[in-house]
Amino acid sequence: MARSLACWLGGCLLVSASGLVPPPENVRMKSVNFKNILQWMSPVFHKGNLTFTTQYQSYRKFQDKCKSITSTQCDFSNLSKYGDHILRVRSEFADEYSDWVNISFCPVDDTIIGPPAVQVEALADSLHMQFLAPQIENEPETWTMKNFYSSWTYNVHYWKNGTDKKFQTTLQYDFGVLRNLEPWTIYCIQVQAFLLVRNKTGEWSEPVCERTMEETTFSWVVAVVLIASVFVVFLMFLGCSVSLWYIYKKTKYTFSPGNSLPQHLKEFLGNPHHSKLLFFSFPLSDENEVFDKLSVISEDCESSKQNPGDSCSFGTPSGPGPPELISKGETHFQGGDPYGDSPLLSSASEGDQSDCLRKPQI
Ligand SMILES: *[C@@H]1O[C@H](CO)[C@@H](O)[C@H](O)[C@H]1NC(C)=O
Ligand SMILES: *[C@@H]1O[C@H](CO)[C@@H](O)[C@H](O)[C@H]1NC(C)=O
Ligand SMILES: *[C@@H]1O[C@H](CO)[C@@H](O)[C@H](O)[C@H]1NC(C)=O
Ligand SMILES: *[C@@H]1O[C@H](CO)[C@@H](O)[C@H](O)[C@H]1NC(C)=O
Ligand SMILES: *[C@@H]1O[C@H](CO)[C@@H](O)[C@H](O)[C@H]1NC(C)=O
Repeated sequence: MARSLACWLGGCLLVSASGLVPPPENVRMKSVNFKNILQWMSPVFHKGNLTFTTQYQSYRKFQDKCKSITSTQCDFSNLSKYGDHILRVRSEFADEYSDWVNISFCPVDDTIIGPPAVQVEALADSLHMQFLAPQIENEPETWTMKNFYSSWTYNVHYWKNGTDKKFQTTLQYDFGVLRNLEPWTIYCIQVQAFLLVRNKTGEWSEPVCERTMEETTFSWVVAVVLIASVFVVFLMFLGCSVSLWYIYKKTKYTFSPGNSLPQHLKEFLGNPHHSKLLFFSFPLSDENEVFDKLSVISEDCESSKQNPGDSCSFGTPSGPGPPELISKGETHFQGGDPYGDSPLLSSASEGDQSDCLRKPQI
């Protein structure tokens, strides 16, 4: 009797010693891609609604994170990603509270790596895959889980839809190609992150299925592109030829010795020496003057035949005009033979002029 009383008293004492307020139950950290949520269950408590306070240890002192909240979870995403953290939570009611429930948590080790995003594109008998590592909240957009692990790789499982046999490959980069697959067949692909150094795997992505192309499709495309480009080149060649021919025709018509050219010019062009002269004399701007003045001289000379005394002295060496121009012409075109074959003279009446022009020099 006394023993049972002692036991009962002891039980009462034990109850009062452990406090009136029961602690939170099933305390756990749910962390995916460094989003760290501490979760717990509210214990059964009849006196009223409990509140909860969570703390984290910083420099050996505990600091409040969520204070007197009614919900049963608290966001610890702001914890440093490296290092061990001690977190704790307790129940509170009025001025009383339960014991702390402690857990330790290391984000970089304990967080779950979520599934990568996968894009698949079929090209002939291969599937081109593009992966995107999971993003992290509260980090710059370009930061993914991959940035926090040095040995990040992708485990790829692929299989023909409707079959059980899965093939496996490991890829180091964010893209990869599955080659030599069966044409016109649906393949499904599942990807997970794999950290070689930590021997840690991420979650599998949802299967992404894609049908490979028909074997002939690719060669068909190549053939069509080839034919089209050959055709285009042919068209361009044809266009060039036609326009060249047209230009040639136009030019030939313009320069053909038709009625439009005066007779003396035709003769002039007919003589090969003259053509040469014409060709070489293009740069000389005052060539026309030479012709004009020469024709004047020839008239003078003709008239001087009738009146031999004064006429050709017009062209004496001291004179400024024609001889100078002629000598200019001869140095350019004739070289050694000054007047014998001068084209400038031959275009007008021949014999008289050479005679006429020589006169002053004699
Ligand atoms: C306890 O919480 C419930 C809902 O969570 C609410 O309806 C009730 O009013 C609360 N009781 C007290 C005493 O605050
Ligand atoms: C985390 O820290 C950032 C600023 O550093 C702040 O804006 C944000 O509210 C914090 N989040 C939590 C859940 O404490
Ligand atoms: C929780 O940690 C505190 C100090 O860090 C310790 O006093 C307490 O006994 C721990 N509680 C449990 C249930 O481990
Ligand atoms: C895969 O095959 C199953 C039947 O085995 C079919 O129901 C499903 O639609 C197929 N998936 C795709 C993406 O074609
Ligand atoms: C890696 O982890 C798996 C379980 O996740 C285990 O079965 C395997 O033995 C480990 N490999 C090494 C090399 O530690």
